[in-house]
Amino acid sequence: MFKINNEYLKLPGSYLFSTIGKKVAAYTEKHPQEKIIRLGIGDVTLPLAPAVIESMHKAVDEMGEAATFKGYAPDLGYEFLRNAIAKQDYRMRGADIEIDEIFISDGAKSDSGNIGDIFARDNKIAVCDPVYPVYVDTNAMAGRAGDYDAKTGRWTDIIYMPCTAETDFAPELPEQTPDMIYLCFPNNPTGATITKSELQKWVDYAREKGAVIIYDAAYEAYISEDDVPHTIYECEGAKECAIEIRSFSKNAGFTGTRLGFTVVPKALKSGDVMLNSLWARRHGTKFNGAPYIIQRAGEAIYSEEGKAQTKEQVAYYMNNAKVIREGLADAGYSVSGGVNAPYIWLKTPDNMTSWEFFDYLLEQAHVVGTPGAGFGPHGEGYFRLTAFGSYENTVEAIARIRKM
Ligand code: MLT
Repeated sequence: MFKINNEYLKLPGSYLFSTIGKKVAAYTEKHPQEKIIRLGIGDVTLPLAPAVIESMHKAVDEMGEAATFKGYAPDLGYEFLRNAIAKQDYRMRGADIEIDEIFISDGAKSDSGNIGDIFARDNKIAVCDPVYPVYVDTNAMAGRAGDYDAKTGRWTDIIYMPCTAETDFAPELPEQTPDMIYLCFPNNPTGATITKSELQKWVDYAREKGAVIIYDAAYEAYISEDDVPHTIYECEGAKECAIEIRSFSKNAGFTGTRLGFTVVPKALKSGDVMLNSLWARRHGTKFNGAPYIIQRAGEAIYSEEGKAQTKEQVAYYMNNAKVIREGLADAGYSVSGGVNAPYIWLKTPDNMTSWEFFDYLLEQAHVVGTPGAGFGPHGEGYFRLTAFGSYENTVEAIARIRKM
């Protein structure tokens, strides 16, 4: 008789954004006349940049000719893309990352879930609270989280690092020593960031404790302030303790196109074993590469036109962020984020729970957001809005919220 992975049975409910999707679908069925504005999941709305489309068209044509047709992609990804990344995302920022330390994938969500494959089950993980739920749920699936306590909303074996208004929504070094530390800056969900010297403290701490940092830099393109690091490898010693995960979803609108990459430096070792080799083994065995057409699309964002066009898209969303932040602050809400990130984190009014506020907002303003409690116990009493809607919808959503 086959057996299932019982760890799945410990997971509470469904994935956060599936739950929200179901709630909104039920509401829409009951109220088909209402125009719902979705500022919940961080999904982009602008079309792909012209440089990206042009590059994809060209690649599609190549796939139709015997001479230029491509089958399986190389395990790590095409060199043209890894070269562009190594040069523009790393070397130009003073971080010496080589192309065989870069692994192209179908996105940061998959990589942040899959990276656990190369780590032992009994590693102790530390996560921010609130946190992007993928880190927690995938570790729970792997049996690394212990048991879920519905009363506290916590897993017994996870170290939670509270990110509260008192700490500007940044985590503090944990009292209990972790083996793996998940950090995401600019942060999803709070939109908070830390400075380079603050990040250096995490790198120093990880090296001292022999821990690995899984650094999710999916929102790097939204950084507007000078002292915020764009990559963890700007910090001294980070190549010995950190894996960095990047996405093309938020900087170039690839949420539906799917492309990302993970950097595993060769200097990162457990004893004599390079994590780079383990990830290469895992990647080669379980993944057959992002499609050629999509990797060419990704390469296009490193061209001069591609850079200018995607920068414009980021500026468009950041203008939405400003509309949300300033509109809500003006209406008396306590807001943060939205300066180096496309997420605005607000305190729910009148001591409402975050799910109560979700229902209230849906019913009164027909606006969908994300309840903070969905990101962890310290997200309770908070709510996330994304800047990824259209400008018109963003303006309308804020006007509706202000009228409630
Ligand atoms: C979010 O809304 O938190 C993001 O869209 C999730 C993701 O990028 O997977």
